[in-house]
Amino acid sequence: MSRVQIRQAGKRYAAVEVLKGVSVDIEDGQFVVLVGPSGCGKSTLLRMIAGLEEISSGEIDIGGRVVNDLQPKDRDIAMVFQSYALYPHKTVADNMGFALRLKRVPEAEIKAKVMRAAEILSLTNLLDRYPRQLSGGQRQRVAMGRAIVRDPQVFLFDEPLSNLDAKLRVQMRAEIKELHQRLKTTTIYVTHDQVEAMTMADKIVVMRDGSIEQIGTPLELYDRPKNMFVAGFIGSPSMNFIKGTMSSPGFTTEDGIALPTPAERPASATVYGVRPEHLRLADDGIPLEVVVLEPTGSETIVLGKLGKQNITCVFRERISAQAGSIIRVRPDLQAVHLFDQNGAAIR
Ligand SMILES: Nc1ncnc2c1ncn2[C@@H]1O[C@H](COP(=O)(O)OP(=O)(O)OP(=O)(O)O)[C@@H](O)[C@H]1O
Ligand SMILES: [Mg+2]
Repeated sequence: MSRVQIRQAGKRYAAVEVLKGVSVDIEDGQFVVLVGPSGCGKSTLLRMIAGLEEISSGEIDIGGRVVNDLQPKDRDIAMVFQSYALYPHKTVADNMGFALRLKRVPEAEIKAKVMRAAEILSLTNLLDRYPRQLSGGQRQRVAMGRAIVRDPQVFLFDEPLSNLDAKLRVQMRAEIKELHQRLKTTTIYVTHDQVEAMTMADKIVVMRDGSIEQIGTPLELYDRPKNMFVAGFIGSPSMNFIKGTMSSPGFTTEDGIALPTPAERPASATVYGVRPEHLRLADDGIPLEVVVLEPTGSETIVLGKLGKQNITCVFRERISAQAGSIIRVRPDLQAVHLFDQNGAAIR
């Protein structure tokens, strides 16, 4: 276990700056998720921590030791890749023990470590199989087993679940979280899936274009996003952003519709943000024209129009409304966000 400090870490490939001096402080034993759209630099940062990419500027410190010039093998980290990268001609047990064998760990010790990891991951019955004889989820677990046997200071995961189907992904997500609760090894986990980030992380780092937009606990990011990018990225379906202007009676949309407005009314507000789950049906609410109704069983998702602007609502109750009909909704004022023209949150 170890603290990881990333100080102003930058990465450039010739003229292209893909990481613009990012700083993250990861406490000993924390589970930190790096999240952001494709190409924002998540894998690059993870690979720099692992030592698979050179660090162009800044410092990475693992357990109180600057590792910039250390070889990957000397950093005491274990990385699990999206592709698993198992050796096809080795059994599960040999895949898991391979790194230890390279380090000339005594055979009896390797065997004990592999057995222990196999027990943790429910792989005991599969130790003699080859990767091709395993399901996707089982391969995933072998890849994790390979990391566990090394008993590293830090686990690094790069989208380890993205090759799995939706149901297995949910199951493996819980397994990884449980594993972390058991081993308490500092973990840095990359995903572009905000649900994975929300459910697994102690702390989330939201990245965009090689920079960090915001760092916080899942609920901090959900309740108090610093800007429209984070507000739109965290939460599903995404937050509604309604354009308009603030005047003394309250916020008025571009179509001239008055919206219920919180008591503070900053004049600089040009975007009214409300999450789909914070709109409730109310007889005296604002009128919304139904475009599409999506019943999922547990809830009803309504895609509608407020004037010309698209609005998504999620209701816990079942409603019957035709496309083209009008429903009335009221935002939960506690949960309304206001943004200025630069997209910065002002409430
Ligand atoms: N060898 C390279 N030379 C030049 N640019 C590169 C190189 N490797 C990566 N990049 C660029 O760096 C940026 C960040 O890439 P990275 O793989 O870290 O993104 P990511 O956030 O992991 O995305 P994804 O979610 O798609 O995996 C991308 O714009 C990519 O094109
Ligand atoms: Mg990546």
